[in-house]
Amino acid sequence: MVVSIPSGLDRKETEVYRRLDPRQLPQHIAIIMDGNGRWARQRHLPRIAGHRAGVEAVRSTVETAARIGIPSLTLYAFSTENWQRRPRTEVSFLMRLLRQYLKQELPTLQKNNIRLDYIGRQHELPPEVQERMDWARRETSRNTGLRLTLALNYSARLELVDAFQAIATAAAQNGGLSHLRLDEHAISRHLYTRDLPELDLVIRTSGEMRLSNFLLWQVAYAEIYVTNTLWPEFRGVHLLEAIAEYQRRERRYGGLGAGHSDEHIPVRVHAGSNGSHHR
Ligand code: FPP
Repeated sequence: MVVSIPSGLDRKETEVYRRLDPRQLPQHIAIIMDGNGRWARQRHLPRIAGHRAGVEAVRSTVETAARIGIPSLTLYAFSTENWQRRPRTEVSFLMRLLRQYLKQELPTLQKNNIRLDYIGRQHELPPEVQERMDWARRETSRNTGLRLTLALNYSARLELVDAFQAIATAAAQNGGLSHLRLDEHAISRHLYTRDLPELDLVIRTSGEMRLSNFLLWQVAYAEIYVTNTLWPEFRGVHLLEAIAEYQRRERRYGGLGAGHSDEHIPVRVHAGSNGSHHR
């Protein structure tokens, strides 16, 4: 198969991209960006230096996703638990970093035709952060390429709580519970991700085999890819490697898949190839 290479990919990215089938790209990729603290500790730097370095990884990953035509990318930037359990100084640093990121990255988002949005309890974030978030969303709202979603003050369980609450309120206003028709679609339609494609691939960096309260409903049929690379070292080429692995796997949706044999049971969770990085 002759694969035409999207412009802007570097040499290593091009090498991996050649192995991909561009017709089978995941429609929605979500990333749990983990390992900033460990990256900093290895260098005897404060944790915030890891977060700062993480911004470069965000930039590279987002640009590559946009260049190859991924429709939707969701990044877990800040969980509700992060908000409650990290030192106040680290939380306020992350808030400042986010404001800075939104301002500084706008030209890159525009250049790559990226539309920015958010999931999570935005109204609980500091007002100046909310303002900057609204501004960046507005500025990019007419873009038609990659939909970049930042999960900020996000919790999957709270997302479900919010969905059930919205369903109950709607039912109360529309003839009560006896008129309520509850099925999977009804729940999906009330999630923060209602306008996004089905989740196909979840990537987690830094080797942890956990979902950490991220997109628990949406993950139902997604492939999970765990790499030992720490987030500040993650780049577009690592995203392409994850997609290559995704394409190697057989996706069965509970069925038997093509060429079924009793001996072959596909491994669903994969630790990334660069095991030498494990910490
Ligand atoms: C997890 O690493 C990372 C975070 C809680 C913050 C994520 C933030 C960034 C990647 C940078 C900024 C992003 C945007 C979108 C502006 P950790 O601190 O839990 O690492 P550890 O597990 O090694 O301690």
